[in-house]
Amino acid sequence: MTTTSSPDAVRRLRDDVVGRGLVEVLPAAFLAGVTRFGRPPAAELDVLTADATALAGRLAAGDVGDGDLPLLTRVLHVAGHADLLAAHGVPGPAYDVLGSFRENLTRPLGPRQTERPTAGARRWPLLGRTVGFPIGVPACVLNGSEAWVRHNVANGWNVLTYKTVRGRAHPANEQPNWVFAAREITSLQPGADADVVADPWDWVAPGSATVSSVNSFGVPSPAPEEWMADLERALAAVGDEQLLLVSVMGEGDDLAADFAGTALMAQEAGAPVVELNLSCPNTLDRSAAGVKPPLCLDADATVAVVEHVRRSLDDRTGLVAKLSWLDEPSLAALVLRLAPLVDGVAGINTVQSRVRRSDGTPTFPGRELAGLSGIAVREPALDFTRRLVALREGGGFHFDVLAMGGVTDPASFEALFAAGADAVQSAAGAFASPFLARDCIAALAETLPRAVEAP
Ligand SMILES: Cc1cc2nc3c(=O)[nH]c(=O)nc-3n(C[C@H](O)[C@H](O)[C@H](O)COP(=O)(O)O)c2cc1C
Repeated sequence: MTTTSSPDAVRRLRDDVVGRGLVEVLPAAFLAGVTRFGRPPAAELDVLTADATALAGRLAAGDVGDGDLPLLTRVLHVAGHADLLAAHGVPGPAYDVLGSFRENLTRPLGPRQTERPTAGARRWPLLGRTVGFPIGVPACVLNGSEAWVRHNVANGWNVLTYKTVRGRAHPANEQPNWVFAAREITSLQPGADADVVADPWDWVAPGSATVSSVNSFGVPSPAPEEWMADLERALAAVGDEQLLLVSVMGEGDDLAADFAGTALMAQEAGAPVVELNLSCPNTLDRSAAGVKPPLCLDADATVAVVEHVRRSLDDRTGLVAKLSWLDEPSLAALVLRLAPLVDGVAGINTVQSRVRRSDGTPTFPGRELAGLSGIAVREPALDFTRRLVALREGGGFHFDVLAMGGVTDPASFEALFAAGADAVQSAAGAFASPFLARDCIAALAETLPRAVEAP
């Protein structure tokens, strides 16, 4: 995968850093970022301090080369200068995990392609429409506003799900909310529990195909007046090669009615397709673990929600149910009941996992459980998609499948598509690799099967 834009990126970046007078303040700003949510063990902090100080010395002396780019990227990003990396076309994480949900809402990070990557005139069918190359970003903080939608479209992502919104404003959980799970570099087996060790200062190099992350945002949402107006603008910003779905979630005692009310707000704002987040692993609860299990583990409650929403929405509005990984009998039973009600099934959501720091304390204060995704959930996602597609074929159903989980490179995109997905999305991969859609399109635009004539 391509990670750098040009061979002299380091030199140009160095000149810019020096020109802006940043060299001297860089080590302290980097260490402030590293220690924002806790202090690394002394030995680790010493190494990071020495590395950043030595890098500043080389920058001042004009003695930096290509080999310095990984450290320079980390130091600039963590020190709050992601904009500099983007300006020089150098990939970094697409989201500022040190900033709040609000601060990130209108500020996508990372380079933007000057020319939108496309598969030319080729189109693929999806939810009664056609789209360009069927790769996208699922419901997550990388798709929480018009600004993000525009950014993602420019970088080649065509199947975008606007981040889950609610029927009333809801704050994010206490920070940190999103941490690299740098030790999780292989996939769990389907159904396996994960016990994750992740420190807030952990780092994964941009473009890494083995990225995993854990998140605990708690499904924050702006107030409906705010998100509905923003959503209207976001819908106006997508072209006929893209599809913008809108993810919604209900809450409270009358869960089905609240889901339906929120879905109606999305429809009123112009959403062509509503996705129901039936699988959130981060909903706060007063239980010992601090969070509830995903709703889709309760089949009756899930079906009640989907039925209520289907009855409430206009027939022309598409409906997608987003699920977590479920075992064989649970998925089979649920799909049988959902298939007549929905136009699509999406999955998997993050895998609810126990997450601790290397010193044993919770990575996310007050929440023992959080959502794991990226390469760690690749096999569960493949397993879920294969079984979902088999249930569709076996039952003679017609719903589309939006697959996600562990897509971090063209091969993992292709594996989910080959399993029968109609579109494939990536959250952790898009976070770590802003050029992922471009790389998948470059590798597969001409050969990806199941294309159709544009209408
Ligand atoms: C930071 C973050 C926030 C997410 N927020 C949502 C959300 O609001 N609604 C939702 O349905 N899924 C959410 N997800 C789950 C993703 O849409 C996706 O299902 C999951 O991350 C698996 O894909 P991945 O392995 O590519 O990350 C979130 C994931 C991440 C990483």
